[in-house]
Amino acid sequence: ESNVLVPAGEEEDDSLASFPTREGWWTTFVLYHGCWLTPQAATSVSLVRAQFAPRPDDVLLATYPKCGTTWLKALSFAVTNRSSHPVVGACAGDHPLLTSHPQDLVPSIETPFRHLHPLSALDAIPSPRLLSTHLPHQLLPPRIVELGCRIVYLCREPKDVVVSTWHFMNKVGNGFFLDLDEAFELFVDGCSLYGPVWDHCLGYWKKSIQEPDTVLFLKYDDMMADPAGHVKKLAEFLRVPFTDDEVRAGVVDEVVRLCSFERLSSLPVNSSGVVDRIGGRPMENSSYFRKAKVGDWKNNLTEEMAQKLDAVIAEKLKGSGLTF
Ligand code: A3P
Repeated sequence: ESNVLVPAGEEEDDSLASFPTREGWWTTFVLYHGCWLTPQAATSVSLVRAQFAPRPDDVLLATYPKCGTTWLKALSFAVTNRSSHPVVGACAGDHPLLTSHPQDLVPSIETPFRHLHPLSALDAIPSPRLLSTHLPHQLLPPRIVELGCRIVYLCREPKDVVVSTWHFMNKVGNGFFLDLDEAFELFVDGCSLYGPVWDHCLGYWKKSIQEPDTVLFLKYDDMMADPAGHVKKLAEFLRVPFTDDEVRAGVVDEVVRLCSFERLSSLPVNSSGVVDRIGGRPMENSSYFRKAKVGDWKNNLTEEMAQKLDAVIAEKLKGSGLTF
């Protein structure tokens, strides 16, 4: 089967029967315009591409799953809403991140079951909207690109991504269990949700080089190494830079602390309860928080597996300038 990216056009035949399929995960995956999706997600994406109405001041947080979406949502929410929801001072104890799951503060434009949940919910959000997506760049609703909506893209070292993905799938799979060997082989073949992972990264990488004011390209490991520096960069890109007074008052450090894995994962709203966010798959709130360690793949992958994935990634990214 082909993994070649084909830009999705309006006139293309979107009936699922015309796309290649592959078994292995908990359900059949379809290769929808170069992107592996569940059949439900493919239906949802098709509808979102046709009907979602972007606004020029929308900000889109784009991630490959398990690359730190929850963290990026928390950080971006805290940064962009800090005038109405201060992170320091008397009102800091009322911050929405203390009582809402980060996943609920930044809605996704496409969910696997978006076709069952009307897009009008997104229309009702006042501008400027903070939205998220797992779609590869070539599958974004075309108007998002035409309008030049700003996009923050976050990716992660692929070996850590496959390990995080494997743990997550088995945790939320409702009885579905896949050996790491099998999950790894699918991932290395490019067959993982919203994959191939390399095409996902490359699409946004190329765009970020062509249009650095439109696409900010971030890496999880770099953010872990210097969260405060990245929070400042994020604020500048989102056109809400921190003032010197804010920096002196510790606002940047407090955003980092509020959104840290340790802080968020220990809050009751994130550590307990089960919620069906996507309509059809209830998940434990805690499933978005596991270890948050750079290089955790060493505890799961063999040296041989690591070399194999490294070689595939190096080959796919060759000449792009992108490395992990
Ligand atoms: P691990 O499975 O390696 O622990 P996503 O939010 O895209 O689903 O990504 C989940 C990954 O991000 C998990 O990685 C999770 O532990 C980690 N994560 C969640 N919250 C985080 C935070 N506040 N800071 C850093 N990493 C976080």
